[in-house]
Amino acid sequence: MKVAVLGATGFTGEKLVDILLSHRQVDLTYISSRTEEPILYSKLFPRFLKKTDLKCEPHNIEKAAALSDIIFLSLPHTVSMEYACRFLKLGKKVIDLSADYRLSDSALYKKFYKVDHSDKTNLKRAVYGLPELFRSKIKKADLIANPGCYPTSMILALYPLMKESLIKAEVIVDSKSSITGAGRKAVIDYHYSNISDNLWAYKAFNHQHTPEVIEILKAKTGKSLNLKFVPHVVPIGAGIYSTSYVSFLKKQTFSKVKALFQRYYKDEPFIRVNQELVKLKNVVGTNFCDIGFSLDETGKFGVIVSCIDNLLKGAAGAAVQNMNILLGIDEKTGL
Ligand SMILES: NC(=O)c1ccc[n+]([C@@H]2O[C@H](COP(=O)([O-])OP(=O)(O)OC[C@H]3O[C@@H](n4cnc5c(N)ncnc54)[C@H](OP(=O)(O)O)[C@@H]3O)[C@@H](O)[C@H]2O)c1
Repeated sequence: MKVAVLGATGFTGEKLVDILLSHRQVDLTYISSRTEEPILYSKLFPRFLKKTDLKCEPHNIEKAAALSDIIFLSLPHTVSMEYACRFLKLGKKVIDLSADYRLSDSALYKKFYKVDHSDKTNLKRAVYGLPELFRSKIKKADLIANPGCYPTSMILALYPLMKESLIKAEVIVDSKSSITGAGRKAVIDYHYSNISDNLWAYKAFNHQHTPEVIEILKAKTGKSLNLKFVPHVVPIGAGIYSTSYVSFLKKQTFSKVKALFQRYYKDEPFIRVNQELVKLKNVVGTNFCDIGFSLDETGKFGVIVSCIDNLLKGAAGAAVQNMNILLGIDEKTGL
């Protein structure tokens, strides 16, 4: 199989290139960005010297489609949907890392992303690419909407509890994200002098990932979630750490909750259910999601903590996991 990465100069695109170059069962044949002229990728990113002679090309849909079977779009939202529909017309499989195909409701897309969805037809055929919940659909998909990084950490933490009707609908989630979560473009807030030794909350209760979590959990559990989500930026290079505050409908014990998570995720290659509250560094540089929890003395209130590398399990790693599922090969290949 031949694969292409559009948006190869971005944070997630660079990670994808790295993983795909050493993947045993695919050839990376085309990479692109808004460069005016083709330029050696190793010139842009010297760590790829002697690893690849590929040139980063100006985006060219026809050329990418001629050279590859599966296309990864590591592009900003609103840009992806302009490209995805054209690749699908050419019979290619698309794995989109942006938010463009994650929400099935185009009105919600407009509300949170401030533009009309321009490809509503393909919105219906998109499969949400969270393998732990949608593996059988991913196997047959033409268009995979790779999940957002915050939603991956939250959905995996809340799914077993909601599916088993153990918690009340109102859940507070406090997440901390690394600065790579916002992409490679220059932003004044992220200048070293602003971000170092600093931390702040943003988009409290109206972050664009909120409806994605609600919609997916409703689809998979039938339950409504009243999500109060407050994200934060912390001055670290990689990772997302989410703390979900839940109220149990009936008294629970630590061992019962742990047994539930272990039962749901025992066969999942990339989910580790922990005995203790988890630490971010254990997942940075990996495709794992680590989950831990703690209950208060009443057994009616608890926190679920879940963490991932935002650029791997939260983006490029998940995208390759999805590709492996599409190809019917070992899900862990290259990861
Ligand atoms: N960063 C994360 O942790 C993360 C996690 C999950 C999902 N995502 C999503 O994945 C996508 C890529 O994220 P990223 O962090 O890799 O972004 P990024 O670092 O900003 O990279 C974006 C890439 O898209 C290209 N690009 C930018 N504007 C474009 C335009 N108008 N037309 C065509 N190409 C354009 C850039 O090319 P140039 O080099 O030419 O500018 C670059 O290669 C986004 O939709 C993001 O929301 C990101």
